[in-house]
Amino acid sequence: EKGGYDYFMLKEIAEQPQAIADTLLGRLSERGEIVLDEVRLTDQDLRDIDKVFIVACGTSYHAGMVAKYAIEHWTRIPCEVELASEFRYRDPILDRSTLVITISQSGETMDTLMALRHAKEQKARVLAICNTNGSTIPRESDAVLYTHGGPEIAVASTKAFLTQLVACYLIGLHLAQIRGVMYADEVAAVVEKLQSTPDSLRLLLDRMEDVRALARDLKTASTVLFIGRHVGYPVALEGALKLKELAYMHAEGFAAGELKHGPISLIDEGTPVVCVVPSPAGRGVLRDKVVSNIQEVRARGARTIVIAEEGDENVKAYADHLITVPSTPTLLAPLMTTVPLQILACEIAAARGLDVDQPRNLAKSVTVE
Ligand code: F6R
Repeated sequence: EKGGYDYFMLKEIAEQPQAIADTLLGRLSERGEIVLDEVRLTDQDLRDIDKVFIVACGTSYHAGMVAKYAIEHWTRIPCEVELASEFRYRDPILDRSTLVITISQSGETMDTLMALRHAKEQKARVLAICNTNGSTIPRESDAVLYTHGGPEIAVASTKAFLTQLVACYLIGLHLAQIRGVMYADEVAAVVEKLQSTPDSLRLLLDRMEDVRALARDLKTASTVLFIGRHVGYPVALEGALKLKELAYMHAEGFAAGELKHGPISLIDEGTPVVCVVPSPAGRGVLRDKVVSNIQEVRARGARTIVIAEEGDENVKAYADHLITVPSTPTLLAPLMTTVPLQILACEIAAARGLDVDQPRNLAKSVTVE
């Protein structure tokens, strides 16, 4: 049932290209427009929205963090992302023109469900992004956009995460299209890139052998740090979360620009630092900023593991270990850059002899607050 893989997690990682394609299926017109007929909110409802809140937990929260960058950039609607467990305890400002998007693989996460109920009491519109048909969160929401990732068995979320990103991109583009913020050809250009991600991801998955070798080297590290900027920041957080939950190692993700405000003092001779480098195209400034952060940690003895776009040859000089990913527009890059981090965590856990699919103390569906 693991389809020839040692773990469900590896099988689910390998299924990601298909999961993305399935999540896009039927939601794009031939002209490259977004068609979300299943979302039971009228175009008028969506035009009236003046604020978006995304609430979720864990990995799904990281998807929400990426979504904030995309939704604000494309729609120009203010968008906040918040941990579901914090959301309702701080009396958030919500009304009829607020769209609250919950993101949940299981659709049963109690923290997210309680946040959703709170949002409904305040009359906000609630839209669920969910992977489990008929689960509680979509049932209680005004609208739902299902991710078509298929069942996720491993406790650590992988394919659900990538399909959540895809669903968020679709919602962002749909809102931008309906509200006339993006021209049809601009939406179509992003859609075309989205449609090419499954193929790019297949290429990436085919050359992950050296990540396995790297995992054997890192299995005894006392801490692993992850840094990124912009959408690379939530990717860094996600890489660290995967390593903590699977390998029981200390790991922490930082916004690269925050290093000098404290965390850089953690760096010692040989400390592994995984650096998520933005694409040099489009936002070259961001990429250059991360490269200077890499130089800073290296100067203090860090061992750098650099995730960068193919063709960004200059980063080689700063990488003790370089992992390249296919080129993608900046906002879509987490669909690529997350994958080596999933494999790294999985392989480190395996090298430490741990139960990859069923880490200690964790449950697939967290139905208590
Ligand atoms: C991490 C992981 C958890 C879940 C979180 C939310 O790999 O699986 O952090 O992402 O418990 O679960 P859902 O998405 O089911 O609400």
